[in-house]
Amino acid sequence: MEFNITESKKQTARLFSEYLSNLIAKNNISHIALSGGSTPKEVFKELAKHFKNEIDWSKVQFYWGDERCVPPDDKESNYKMTNEYLFSKIELPPGNIYRIKGENEPVVEAKRYADLLEKNLPKVGMQPQFDLVVLGLGDDGHTASIFPNQMHLWNSKAYCEVAEHPLTGQKRVTLTGSIINSAKEVAFLVTGANKAEKVLEIIKRKGNYNTYPASLVKPNSGKLNWFLDAAAAKLIA
Ligand code: 6PG
Repeated sequence: MEFNITESKKQTARLFSEYLSNLIAKNNISHIALSGGSTPKEVFKELAKHFKNEIDWSKVQFYWGDERCVPPDDKESNYKMTNEYLFSKIELPPGNIYRIKGENEPVVEAKRYADLLEKNLPKVGMQPQFDLVVLGLGDDGHTASIFPNQMHLWNSKAYCEVAEHPLTGQKRVTLTGSIINSAKEVAFLVTGANKAEKVLEIIKRKGNYNTYPASLVKPNSGKLNWFLDAAAAKLIA
């Protein structure tokens, strides 16, 4: 595990953008799974502002780790947020965007997306392999869209499953454990004081850590990078 701790969410966005830019520069094509949430939003703003011309976007193929089951123009859509803050501001060939179609029937879409990953991604052994999976951490310990009351989804044989938000009942399509842990690198983007307790439990393997899906993130490559702001890291520093 590697820790990158900064003073603020903005600085975390900056540091992560530099890391992403270096990763893209060293690959011919980068297959990257994005996440939703407020921290990625800050990252997208930073990338659009300072990395628009620094990154050769034509080398990047974008996917998602999870999507809410809503149409792409819904304010809840992870795709809409990414499009608004990043894609619409950079030179990215539209063919390089592989969104989870939240408007489709969820079970059908989970299968369609899993098949697409099988077809598009290079393989490590039998598994499709992302160059990078970007993850957030919910203050309940969820990651991607696998929530604590649905831990079994993590171990699914399928690369994608349909999950449900425990409070709102909103359906989501999410990647599962085997494909997340097969990635060449995984990056956790975590900011805000409301995450501090879960960060401590997960990293120090304390308390209820084993009831949190985020504690199951252990890439086979050993490359797990945490990007934290001081507020989220305050109990581990
Ligand atoms: C989503 C997510 C989710 C998110 C976390 C953290 O679409 O809801 O992908 O797992 O990453 O809830 O979100 P914040 O960055 O807002 O804390």
